[in-house]
Amino acid sequence: MAKPKTVYFCQHCGHESPKWVGKCPSCNEWNTFVEEVVEKGEGKNEWRQESKLQPASKPVLLHEIEASSAIRFQTHDNELNRVLGGGLVPGSLILIGGEPGIGKSTLMLQIGLMLGKIKTLYVSGEESEQQIKMRAERILQGKLNSSSFFVLNETNTRQIFSHIEQLQPELLIIDSIQTLYSPQLDSLAGSVGQVRQSAAELMKFAKETGTLVFLVGHITKDGLLAGPKVLEHMVDTVLQFEGDRHLAYRILRTTKNRFGSTSEIGIYEMSGAGLREVSNPSEILISQKDSSLSGATIGATVEGNRALLIEVQSLVSPASFGTPQRTPNGFDHKRLNMLLAVLEKRCGYRMGQQDVFVNMAGGLQIDDPAIDLAVCVSIISSFDEKPVSEKICFAAEVGLGGELRAVNRIDQRISEAEKLGFTEIYVSKYHQKALKKSDTKIKVNAVGRLDEVLKALV
Ligand code: TYD
Ligand code: MG
Repeated sequence: MAKPKTVYFCQHCGHESPKWVGKCPSCNEWNTFVEEVVEKGEGKNEWRQESKLQPASKPVLLHEIEASSAIRFQTHDNELNRVLGGGLVPGSLILIGGEPGIGKSTLMLQIGLMLGKIKTLYVSGEESEQQIKMRAERILQGKLNSSSFFVLNETNTRQIFSHIEQLQPELLIIDSIQTLYSPQLDSLAGSVGQVRQSAAELMKFAKETGTLVFLVGHITKDGLLAGPKVLEHMVDTVLQFEGDRHLAYRILRTTKNRFGSTSEIGIYEMSGAGLREVSNPSEILISQKDSSLSGATIGATVEGNRALLIEVQSLVSPASFGTPQRTPNGFDHKRLNMLLAVLEKRCGYRMGQQDVFVNMAGGLQIDDPAIDLAVCVSIISSFDEKPVSEKICFAAEVGLGGELRAVNRIDQRISEAEKLGFTEIYVSKYHQKALKKSDTKIKVNAVGRLDEVLKALV
């Protein structure tokens, strides 16, 4: 028998090379190349080999193709429906990534259990059947009635496919892709070759049978989907589950979606009984405090397509020695340095000898530049020890000249602030159209410069 063909893969980025090399030409990492067996031609495709469903592929006219992909089934989880762009598309392959312990298995189990009559197979290579049962009981709180939910403890793809053929599930959940191994390759489960091979087999399976497949993937220390980039281009949708493990809030984000937009986010709260949807996130992102606190302001941001009002807290205190500390939490470090320089140079506040800590409520990471104004006001409010009324919120980007710049979706921000009972909002005066409307109950202050806002408030 001929020696199987082998190639080398970078374990870090998945780059393929016919020879061993010390340094990866793609990601510049050293000593990351590992040999993998690749079998070309017949026998490579595990799914086809195992299955009797072998449609001979032939070219078809575009207008003859039935648009079945437009039929989506809705889950009971509105946050997930929104993130996926309106529901689940049969035959699609969805990768959900996240750090260990964030709640990926919980979310998957919950989706499977809530889908009711849809036959689901949950393949777990990480937890025993008993553990899954215990978790399901916790989620459903004793109302366990899963006549269409099957659990399988298996990691060999060949075995999994033979079970699938008997069971014919409509939804397949793989938890996690890193634990699967295909007997086609000799390398260990979790290696790039195995992850790629198992995912490719599952992709063929999903496309040929129209089954919906969820893959759970772990994220490495540096935030890459382990396995790594090779998976992202194979699947139809990439979901990212993130959040601070010590806080209850979790955010589900799409980073790729062939069937919808990637700008939506879903917000969940981890409770004692699984993940709970948070339909009005602004209410939880604003802390309930009795008296006004200096350094706390509310920014009107937009995350995905939703306006979110979020509390920004700052603490400014004299640096006791050496270089002062600038510590943002949920906000970009460089952006904070820039805003401090603007406050110093354009508004005349001496920030050079001050430690500055900035915190976004709820452990959220905010990239929206419209939060700038709220951050600046919050810093100066703490610096001057003057609280800002909690009925005021802010939405404007701060430029290097200390000017307030217009931001997108200002109407949406203003109406969200109005809905939540704010009486005043500060925006840039460069919003020509938005400011013409005068039917709003909320007072819209259109200002051109940062120092004018600071003068008016603190
Ligand atoms: P898990 O889904 O196992 O995370 P992952 O699959 O991403 O590794 O979630 C584990 C955490 O969630 C664990 O710390 C316990 C917590 N949890 C709850 O707080 N409430 C619950 O109802 C469940 C099922 C889990
Ligand atoms: Mg898990």
